[in-house]
Amino acid sequence: MADSTRHLSILTVGLLIHLSHQYGFKNCIGDQYSNNLTFTCSQRAEKLISLIVGDLPASAINITIGNNNVSHIPTESFIRFFKLENLSMDSNNLKFIDGLAFRRMHQLRTLILSSNRLSKLNCSVFQDLYNLTYLSLKHNLLEDLPQSLFTSTPQLNTLILRNNSLHNFSVVVRSVSSLSQLKTLDLGFNFLTSLTHLNSSLPKSLTELFVCGNKLLSLACADSFLTNIRLLDLSKNVELSTTAFKGVDLAQIRYLQMGSTKVKIFEFFKVTNVDATYVDFSDMGLTDPSQIIKLCTFFRKSKHTTHMTLKLNRFNMLPNTSLTNCPQITGTFDISSNNLKQVKCLEFLEGQKHIKSSKIEHNHIKRLLSCKGTKYKLPLTELSFRYNRILSVKSDAFAHTPNVTILNLNINSIASLHFGALRGLTKLQILRLDNNLLTELWDSTFEGLSSLETLNLRNNRIAVIFYGRFQDLGRLTILDLGGNKISHIYEGGLRGLKRLRNLYLDGNNLKQIDSIEFAPFQNTLEVLDLLKNRIRFTHEIFVSPFVNLSRLRDLKLDGQQPFGITRLPHGFFRGLHSLRNLYLTNSRIDHLASDTFDDLTGLAYLTLDNSCNGLVHLERGSFKGLRNLKRLSLQNMGLQNLSKEVFGHLAKLQGLYLTHNVMQHIDVEVLNSLSSLSYLDIRKIPLSCTCQNLELQNWTLNNYKVQLIYLHSLRCKESIGNFFFNFDTKVCFVDLEKYMFFVTAAVIFVSIVVPLLHFKLYWKMKYGYYVFRAWFSEQWRKLREDEENCEYDAFISYNFNNEAWVLEQLLPNLEGNGSSFKLCLHHRDFAPGRNIVDNIVSAVYGSRKTLCVVSRNFLQSEWCSLEIQLASYRLFDEHRDVLLLVFLEHIPERELSSYHRMRKVMLRKTYLQWPGSECTDPAMAQLLFWKQLRRALRTGSRMEDEDAAGEKKSSGTAEGDQTDSARANS
Ligand SMILES: *[C@@H]1O[C@H](CO)[C@@H](O)[C@H](O)[C@H]1NC(C)=O
Ligand SMILES: *[C@@H]1O[C@H](CO)[C@@H](O)[C@H](O)[C@H]1NC(C)=O
Ligand SMILES: *[C@@H]1O[C@H](CO)[C@@H](O)[C@H](O)[C@H]1NC(C)=O
Repeated sequence: MADSTRHLSILTVGLLIHLSHQYGFKNCIGDQYSNNLTFTCSQRAEKLISLIVGDLPASAINITIGNNNVSHIPTESFIRFFKLENLSMDSNNLKFIDGLAFRRMHQLRTLILSSNRLSKLNCSVFQDLYNLTYLSLKHNLLEDLPQSLFTSTPQLNTLILRNNSLHNFSVVVRSVSSLSQLKTLDLGFNFLTSLTHLNSSLPKSLTELFVCGNKLLSLACADSFLTNIRLLDLSKNVELSTTAFKGVDLAQIRYLQMGSTKVKIFEFFKVTNVDATYVDFSDMGLTDPSQIIKLCTFFRKSKHTTHMTLKLNRFNMLPNTSLTNCPQITGTFDISSNNLKQVKCLEFLEGQKHIKSSKIEHNHIKRLLSCKGTKYKLPLTELSFRYNRILSVKSDAFAHTPNVTILNLNINSIASLHFGALRGLTKLQILRLDNNLLTELWDSTFEGLSSLETLNLRNNRIAVIFYGRFQDLGRLTILDLGGNKISHIYEGGLRGLKRLRNLYLDGNNLKQIDSIEFAPFQNTLEVLDLLKNRIRFTHEIFVSPFVNLSRLRDLKLDGQQPFGITRLPHGFFRGLHSLRNLYLTNSRIDHLASDTFDDLTGLAYLTLDNSCNGLVHLERGSFKGLRNLKRLSLQNMGLQNLSKEVFGHLAKLQGLYLTHNVMQHIDVEVLNSLSSLSYLDIRKIPLSCTCQNLELQNWTLNNYKVQLIYLHSLRCKESIGNFFFNFDTKVCFVDLEKYMFFVTAAVIFVSIVVPLLHFKLYWKMKYGYYVFRAWFSEQWRKLREDEENCEYDAFISYNFNNEAWVLEQLLPNLEGNGSSFKLCLHHRDFAPGRNIVDNIVSAVYGSRKTLCVVSRNFLQSEWCSLEIQLASYRLFDEHRDVLLLVFLEHIPERELSSYHRMRKVMLRKTYLQWPGSECTDPAMAQLLFWKQLRRALRTGSRMEDEDAAGEKKSSGTAEGDQTDSARANS
């Protein structure tokens, strides 16, 4: 039987595995936003490609397998992925790719095999890649290319073979010659010594050829091999000399680079037919400005040139005559990376009437002087002085370039920006002053820059924003003040910025923020970055600083120094109805009130990562306002559990990131309540592999909606060697199984044996039954006798005000005077030091009767009510007749109506009325009273219904007697 059960269970398990919908991949992560289309399988230290992609759905379109340890791609490795368009296998230590490795990947467009160790390629590696357009093999060890390597990749457009060990250009040409769509061929940094090639030619489609960084000595003998090439990069072939160009047709070239070669530029122009307009003069060893004048004599063909690039030469200065002979430059004049120490109002550009842009980056310029009164105006619209050593910019430094729209002064040492420095730049749209040493902004620094849209002042040393510094910048949309030392923004410091959309104040020293500061742009601001300031709230605030920012989309408050914002005041996010993204990482928030996020109804993304402050307490309903939240990141927060009260409201949540927390158990109900969830990351959580997580394991293996990241790598907290997905859950069923077994066995046994016994032993059983009944009644009787031996006959419950009556009348009449009842009085018999409630309980239960001396005072006393409660509990719930009421004064029924338990007792039980002094013959009536009371006390507290009849009778008598006595009295 056991065996067959096992077989059955194996069968069921087998079925389960077969039917289960595990959604989660061993080594890959599916992009959260694309349904099973894009996968990243990086840093898995996996060796076998089949194990990496084995469980991916065939629908995949993009797969990235980076930084693994795959050295070999076997044949047909990706045959299932007939829809795949992009495959990247960068940095995998690949050594061998078998023929037909990419078989049937007819849709593949991009294949990246860079940074591996491939030294040889099989000729059928790229078989079947009919639609491949981009192939990168850079940073490998290829020495050779098989001739028919590209026979089935007719669409190949770009081939990158940079940084390999190719040394024979012929071999390359033979291999690529059939690629009729090839446009770009990058052979940079190989070991080619010549571009000679025999018996085959470069494809006619090829227009861009990079052979920089090789060992070229000569080009080719055939003079026309480059006739279709437009872009030719021959730079960094350190042995290449002018003679190599003899007889080479370069007439079609539109861009030629020969920096870092032995080519002598003036000799070169004597032997070549290239148009100088298209030559990049970078790194040609030029030092003397007169060389430029000479160079320009070679621009024979045209009066115009688009660009003139003189980077990486050694010019110290350019006099104003430098470009006199040169054609009109219509694009960029680039003199970056030279040794210029000064530029003197760009006088060398004088006469350039069409120039658009000038780059003077990476030089040694120290100051920009005043250019007020220059006779010429330059039409430049872009001007860049990045990476110089500029310390000061004098006023009117740009008076000669009034049309500039983009000005880059960033990455210098500007400490002094004269207050009129930017005067006249009325067309300026983008101004970069970031990474300088500015400490102060003058009130006229930005005066008149009425077209400015972007102002970047990041990484300076500005400490205070004074009133009205930006007041002319009515068109500014982006203001970057990040990385300064701003501790204070004066009132009106940001006035005038009426179109501001993005404000970056991150990395400053702000301690407070105020809605007034944001008032000028409260209707336009979309991005506010306050990361890494010193904002903290020690007390509640009255108005949220963000209350009027009705368009704010992104708010960053992460990492306030030194310990995080720690506390969010009540109503802090009030009014932010448009907010989409809220960043609160590194905040050490220890408590989230339930209404913190209530106004953020538009929020789509919230991150509280690294808010680790020991343990975070999320109040129930903390997230209830986030109706549109799609992504929630709570990594490294010390979360101990997920509760429905906190997470249950996130109906639109798609991605939940919970890595590095401390919960050992996750309630499946919470996961099920997140109806839109499609991505769950619970890596690095000490999941417990115990029955507590039985349901979770079951859920992870049977859910088809939520991708569980690296499901098969999740480990058990108890033992790092075991995995969560397959921890042994049998133990969880063992108890149940045993229980079921015994119950079933018992039922079967009884249903077989009893009829048998009944049939065989009917009379014996009947006899036995009677014997048992007799024994049982005997035991029952004994039990009751025990109970009769109570410590006291009656517990007297009375109010302090009636004590005189109890001591003077009741005690003598019941304890003395011939009758020896044993009474319990609390002042006399209660154990001292014992809890009063315990005393009452033991008194009520240790006495056969509870006698209540009822007066108005009694009814109001709370002790007594407890006593009555107890006694009446015994009466009603234990069905024991223990309660006896003695009314010391006449209390009309309507007064009793509020004591309805008492009324219930009176309706049911006997009660005695003390004949007071109002009676005509009190002595006689009292004698009768004591007689009745003694009789009532003598009746046992037997089970009520057993002799209910007797009781009723006696109560009738007592009442009758009492009525009689009352009648007698009157
Ligand atoms: C696949 O990758 C390409 C290139 O990275 C990207 O443009 C495209 O959107 C991706 N496709 C999907 C479906 O994610
Ligand atoms: C290339 O891709 C197109 C568009 O998806 C497809 O129709 C065509 O069949 C593919 N070419 C080959 C040879 O498979
Ligand atoms: C994605 O693929 C997995 C595994 O093949 C499957 O379980 C899941 O249902 C698919 N998800 C979607 C959204 O199609």
